[in-house]
Formats: sequence, C-alpha cells, structure tokens
Amino acid sequence: MKYKVIAFIVLANIVYSCASKSSVPTAVAKKEDVSLTPMTSELVEGKSLYENNCARCHQLYSPQDFNAQDWKPIVNRMQKKANLSDIDGQKIYKYLTMK
Ligand code: HEC
Repeated sequence: MKYKVIAFIVLANIVYSCASKSSVPTAVAKKEDVSLTPMTSELVEGKSLYENNCARCHQLYSPQDFNAQDWKPIVNRMQKKANLSDIDGQKIYKYLTMK
C-alpha cells in the first residue's frame, strides 16, 4: 500500500513537471509584437513603465479604453501625477496606442 502511494507521488511529479514545461513556449511566443513594429524594446519598456507606475492610484485601464487622440491628454496629465519624465510618458503613450 505504502509502495503504491510513493509510486503515485513520483508519477504525479513527473506529470506536473512536464505540464509546467509545456507552458513555457506560450509565454515566450509573442510573435505579433515583433512583426508589428521595429520598436519592440521601447514598447516593452512602455508596457512595464505603465504597469509599474500607473496602477498606484487606480486599476490599470486597458489600452483599448481610449483611442490615441484621447490618450494624449490623459497620459500628459497622469505622467505628472506619476512623477514621470516626458520621455517615459511618451513610451507609455506609444505602448497604449500601438494596438
Ligand atoms: C498619483 C495618483 C495617480 C497616478 C500615479 C496615476 N493616476 Fe491616473 N488617475 C488618477 C486620478 C485621481 C484619476 C481620476 C481623476 C482625474 O482624472 O484626475 C485618474 C484617472 C485616470 C484615467 C481615467 C480617464 C480620465 O481622463 O480621468 C486614466 C485613463 C488614467 N488615470 C491613466 C493613468 C496612467 C496612464 C497613469 C500612468 C502614467 C496614471 N493614470 C497614473 C490618479 C493617478
């Protein structure tokens, strides 16, 4: 009986480690970012600036919540609230409006 339990744990471990391995490629596959624009690294930076600075006072809004025209004054206003430079604000703006 004890033997069966151990065998089950070993088996469960193998299944689990395979399952977690198979989820890695999906996390890495971000093809559309690469094909959309050559400024990928800037957009990635904008995304991380956005996620790290813009959720302090309220929940993050979706980039789709506003169009490029509307985002401009909002980011201008909010970058000051978040104490970000114009350059960082522009990176966030680019990320929010890339679609
Ligand atoms: C210091 C707090 C604070 C930070 C940091 C902040 N916000 Fe806000 N945000 C607010 C407040 C307060 C409001 C609602 C009142 C207003 O519009 O001023 C708001 C409203 C918004 C709205 C709703 C639309 C609108 O016109 O009111 C959006 C979109 C938004 N913020 C985006 C951002 C983004 C993008 C950033 C990062 C650059 C950010 N916020 C950082 C406080 C903050």
